[in-house]
Amino acid sequence: MSVATLVLRAPSANRVYAQAAGALARAEAHWVLGAHRGTPPQLTQRMIGGMPALEIPGAADPATAHLLGTLSGAHGLFEIVEEDAAVPDRPLLRPLPTTAPLRHPSDLETILKYPGKTNEQFTALLVNLGAALSAHRDRLAAGTLELLDPLCGRGTTLNRALRLGLSPVGADIDRKDVEAYRAFLTTWLREHRYKHSVNSTALRVHGEQLGVRVDAELAEDKAAHRAGRTQQLRLLACDTTRLSKVLPSRSIDALVADLPYGVQHGARSRDAWQRSPLEVLRAAAPTWRSLLRDGAGLALAYNRRTLEHAAATDALAAADLRIISPDGAFRHRVDASIDRDVLLAIPTTHPQAEQLAALGASAKETP
Ligand SMILES: C[S@@+](CC[C@H](N)C(=O)[O-])C[C@H]1O[C@@H](n2cnc3c(N)ncnc32)[C@H](O)[C@@H]1O
Repeated sequence: MSVATLVLRAPSANRVYAQAAGALARAEAHWVLGAHRGTPPQLTQRMIGGMPALEIPGAADPATAHLLGTLSGAHGLFEIVEEDAAVPDRPLLRPLPTTAPLRHPSDLETILKYPGKTNEQFTALLVNLGAALSAHRDRLAAGTLELLDPLCGRGTTLNRALRLGLSPVGADIDRKDVEAYRAFLTTWLREHRYKHSVNSTALRVHGEQLGVRVDAELAEDKAAHRAGRTQQLRLLACDTTRLSKVLPSRSIDALVADLPYGVQHGARSRDAWQRSPLEVLRAAAPTWRSLLRDGAGLALAYNRRTLEHAAATDALAAADLRIISPDGAFRHRVDASIDRDVLLAIPTTHPQAEQLAALGASAKETP
């Protein structure tokens, strides 16, 4: 008889986050499972035959198994069939099939390398969190979740979203980044023989030149294209604070971004580059809020050395956005200058606000 479900952690997670990998996997599962189920899950880290794993009590129903399989650090999924008290790290296991929700080859996320790139596994964690907080979280599996990265750099979030089958929107003020991503995507689509189109045009609103826009459409092959299995990507080279002039209001389900760390990237606000992203957060929050549906979710990574949780809370609160994750909820060291964490937020009008905020409170209590 099955007593619990195990998620075996990918070895890559240990390389990316060193000691924090277990705590991060647990924190991600807490929010993703908790948001889907409406109650905080019971999660335990344990070693199985020398390999790190996360244990969830009870047999996994298909929906839970699917969610566990999509966690950013998941490597494999097992049912614990029988425990033996004499060998506590060697229970009898039965493998569970993990449904593969990802489309497109993995090199879409990994080929492009550059200083300041957000690592792919951490990006997957951010996307999972932003989507889970959305009241429309089921749209992720359906491929219809509207996702925006308003500080998208060279598109790590957008590539993840494409692999999830979404049609994402990205924006960055740095035209070189947008151009580099456009060039990469075009080459990648050509080399992988996708049916595609990529068009760059001036981004002009009411005669005002805001920047450049890139519109891409892709399908795995001609048959997919004929059957309408296409994905769209909108990429905007413009200031994030101008996005409400370009994108429809109340259209976004999940906003996912890696705020400038003040190391490779600064934050551009009021025509000046700043080390801290606080000014850009203050200036952009009302615009971002206007683009979000009431039931949207936000997952924002930041460097604790250049932004304080309390200051971010105030900046978002001024735009009717409520941070629900405790200070340090996803804290981990990236390098000597980056002490990274994640802010999880929702509009104050989110229909599940209290239930999601309770997940934040229970995250604080669990060690
Ligand atoms: C940490 S980086 C994002 C990296 C990205 N996730 C990637 O993997 O390429 C932050 C980005 O914010 C952009 N940025 C800073 N201020 C901005 C503004 N006012 N409007 C739009 N983008 C801005 C920077 O150009 C930089 O690309």
